[in-house]
Amino acid sequence: MSTNSSYYLTFSDPFSSHDPLVSRKLFLLRNVQVLELLLALFAFIAIHSLRQKKHYGLPVWPFLGMLPSLAFGLRGNIYEWLTDILSRQNGTFHFRGPCFSSLNSTITCDPRNVEHLLKNRFSAFPKGSYFRDNLRDLLGDGIFNADDETWQRQRKTASIEFHSAKFRQLTTHSLYELVHKRLLPVLEASKMLKESIKGVDDFADEFIRTRKKEMSLEGESTKRSDLLTVFMGLRDEKGGSFSDKFLRDICVNFILAGRDTSSVALSWFFWLLEMNPEVEEKIMVEMCKILRQRDDNGKGAKVDYEPVFGPEEIKKMNYLQAALSEALRLYPSVPVDHKEVQEDDVFPDGTILKKGEKVIYAIYAMGRMEAIWGKDCREFRPERWLRDGRFMSESAYKFTAFNGGPRLCLGKDFAYYQMKYVAAAIVYRHKVKAVEGHKVEPKLALTMYMKHGLLVNLINRSVSEIDQYYAKTIDDGSSV
Ligand code: HEM
Repeated sequence: MSTNSSYYLTFSDPFSSHDPLVSRKLFLLRNVQVLELLLALFAFIAIHSLRQKKHYGLPVWPFLGMLPSLAFGLRGNIYEWLTDILSRQNGTFHFRGPCFSSLNSTITCDPRNVEHLLKNRFSAFPKGSYFRDNLRDLLGDGIFNADDETWQRQRKTASIEFHSAKFRQLTTHSLYELVHKRLLPVLEASKMLKESIKGVDDFADEFIRTRKKEMSLEGESTKRSDLLTVFMGLRDEKGGSFSDKFLRDICVNFILAGRDTSSVALSWFFWLLEMNPEVEEKIMVEMCKILRQRDDNGKGAKVDYEPVFGPEEIKKMNYLQAALSEALRLYPSVPVDHKEVQEDDVFPDGTILKKGEKVIYAIYAMGRMEAIWGKDCREFRPERWLRDGRFMSESAYKFTAFNGGPRLCLGKDFAYYQMKYVAAAIVYRHKVKAVEGHKVEPKLALTMYMKHGLLVNLINRSVSEIDQYYAKTIDDGSSV
């Protein structure tokens, strides 16, 4: 401080003194007072914000809202963080974003609210423009991102196709080709796996180009039965064919819908299986029982060490279906989903919803709510899905892994069939063991990938090991 300015202070300040030492002390004192005031203000804001935690679930900071807590949550497992808040807040809480941001949203895992959202008031909760605009680059106008007419048209066309006998026949056949001619040999030679993944990126473009070429050759279109061919044959509202961009969106959406969801679910399933050897044993015994029924009603049947399961046999695998559902309950391939509030509304639990706000339903958290699944909600227990040995599905609003209402996953039955087929072919032949020390944790993404993938060693089951499982089915004598 210059002498001039201290001199100036002596005039303007009633506490001033002509003694420079006293004047400096008083000046410091005044600064300390300001500092104290600021500290007191900060303490008041902090206490006020933290006290709001009790009411709102998280501290609410001036201007920043709940953003600091979200930033903290993002450093760890965000899904667990959300589950914890939701269970403290009885299943629903309102996230307050920073001032002037569009992050305000209601987050719920209450089955009553989810049923309201997905079924009872379906048309009042579209996907909405906010998410559509943010995901446009990836999803375009594809079924995942669309509402109203654009959605309805794709849903109807795809639904007819998915339920056609020709499509079912094709999928059964292609699964055989994919699993027995490609996957199992690739698992034996891991080098090939990297090469196969490399080709996936250009898939959509190449797929459309080839199909167009085929269709330009007269009569070729009638030979194919797949979704892309069906859409290529359709006309838009103006009577023209769909643009390449729209066809690309359809391809990407259906590849995303069907490919990553099932493969990610299988990764979590295999990881859970290793930690629950008693479940693995029950799956093996179930498969052996089914194989034993092939001939002679189980008596004196020859053991099949390289079985190809038929559709009817896959259907009989109730325990395997229960184990896959249990994996999807704990690690749903789509961990959170969203809607936009079209008009003011009230949730069945009394939560008020304002037009334009976002609603997020936390599918991961729903699978871990004691109120929904009971005290053992965090245990991997396929038995919870079985009644007298038969698989019993749960309400889509409790088990939301496949969504519910008019936008229920179109590929649900196909996904179960596909996952059961792949899991049965692998589990029967190999023990899947994660590489020691490999870290397994979820990634923050639209699909519940494993952050570092799942590195595994496959250990071939020996003939004598398989014989032991067969022996178990003969010992207990029960039928499937
Ligand atoms: C484990 C496997 C699967 C899971 C967990 C799953 C889950 C879901 C979920 C949560 C949705 C709702 C997404 C949203 O609206 O935001 C959905 C929609 C959809 N899924 Fe799946 N899915 C799986 C497999 C499949 C397969 C194999 C196919 C196709 C072959 C498929 C086709 C679709 C389609 C077309 C939709 C859009 C439905 C609509 O918006 O009307 N899914 N799925």
